[in-house]
Amino acid sequence: MSRVTEQYEFSRQFLAGGVSASTRLNRALGHPMFFDRAAGCRVWDLDGREYIDLCCSHGATLLGHGDSRVREAVERVLARGAACSYENELHGQFAELLCQTIPCCERVRFTGSGTEATMHCLRLARAYTGRSKIVKIEGHFHGYHDQVMFSIGTPADQLADETSPARFPGSAGIAPGLAENLVMVPYNRVDVLERVFQEHGHELAALICEPVYYNAGCVLPTPEFLSAMRRLTREHGALLIFDEVLSAFRMAPGGAQDYLGVTPDLCTIGKAVGGGYPLSVFGGRHEIMRHLMPEGNCQHSGTYNGHPVSVAAGLAAVTAYRQPGFYEHIRSLGEQLFAGLTEILARHQIPGRVQGLGARFGLYFGLTEEVRNYRDAVKHQRQQMLQFVAAAIQHGVYFHDYGGAACHHGFCAAMTAADVGEVLNRLDEALRTCRPA
Ligand SMILES: Cc1ncc(COP(=O)(O)O)c(C=O)c1O
Repeated sequence: MSRVTEQYEFSRQFLAGGVSASTRLNRALGHPMFFDRAAGCRVWDLDGREYIDLCCSHGATLLGHGDSRVREAVERVLARGAACSYENELHGQFAELLCQTIPCCERVRFTGSGTEATMHCLRLARAYTGRSKIVKIEGHFHGYHDQVMFSIGTPADQLADETSPARFPGSAGIAPGLAENLVMVPYNRVDVLERVFQEHGHELAALICEPVYYNAGCVLPTPEFLSAMRRLTREHGALLIFDEVLSAFRMAPGGAQDYLGVTPDLCTIGKAVGGGYPLSVFGGRHEIMRHLMPEGNCQHSGTYNGHPVSVAAGLAAVTAYRQPGFYEHIRSLGEQLFAGLTEILARHQIPGRVQGLGARFGLYFGLTEEVRNYRDAVKHQRQQMLQFVAAAIQHGVYFHDYGGAACHHGFCAAMTAADVGEVLNRLDEALRTCRPA
């Protein structure tokens, strides 16, 4: 038995399901991966097998694993005792850097995870507007708290009519009634958005969206939908929230709002902001952010908020993202990888499609037309994805599996053009073993 499977057998005796997070099980393998060490764009499992990592901690390690700038910043804080639950000078410094980097941020707050960031951001939007309903977009993912755990992986036969998508719960255990606070709309349908604002405008606190919908691979908003979201929220006194937990720093220093040229009222930032350490941020206009306690009456607190290790790591990481040439490198790797993958799929006569922006991308099997929303993405061939992920891992490329669904994959800045070439060679071999569905 390999050490990986042995470890899984052991962990299952004590860890529920053998994992610390339910999506950590890689269904393509039938077990989670157990990595022993990581460096740059590579990871090694407990059996010593090496992989080029195309998960990159679900996007958290945008610089690559074990980046020396991040590690040195962390070590400096550890040497000072890493006292948490207090402020130090790094919090203010990092907040200043974020406000200089992210267009909508005049003030920010640190919190622990993307889930916490969207939870607090929505509470703030409700406190600020005095309203409770939230417009949510079908399929968009905003973390694991009960306010937004609806319509995130709805089975194809439960979607309901596109003009009024089902508020399908993403988990058991969510109190009945919470769905009533959500008004669900399809992505990229301006007509439906306009109707919803006409009907519900006076009771809407916010519209929350993934400005680049990476949780279905990589789907961009149409220019019309993007400007309608900005215009309608403004006209009806609701806040526009960009959930940039995944998109922040991915394709531009200021994230999707910088890239798309639309500034929301509030945003959430996660994953890459901590340089591989647990940190998230929410921020926006001062006039809104001042409603947070202790200035205002909206609560946001937490023992581990702004943990000094994560703040030091994040400050070092964001400083690195702002270095000249960083995004040119990301763009050039992306172009090489996305074109190479598309070419390999065609060569192996496997119908499929790659859509990517910046350092993350979606890989869709069985789809050749542009994927524009959740309903398109859900048609992708899950079995083929599982087959592909297993083959890729067998050939030394680590893809995380999201139950076979079309989800996001990505690379890190530690990669070189030669590494991308190696990924493509390995995937070429892997695809030889896959059959079209
Ligand atoms: C857009 C978006 N929002 C929120 C979250 C939740 O973040 P976390 O897993 O850090 O709680 C994620 C996680 O993938 C995400 O992609």
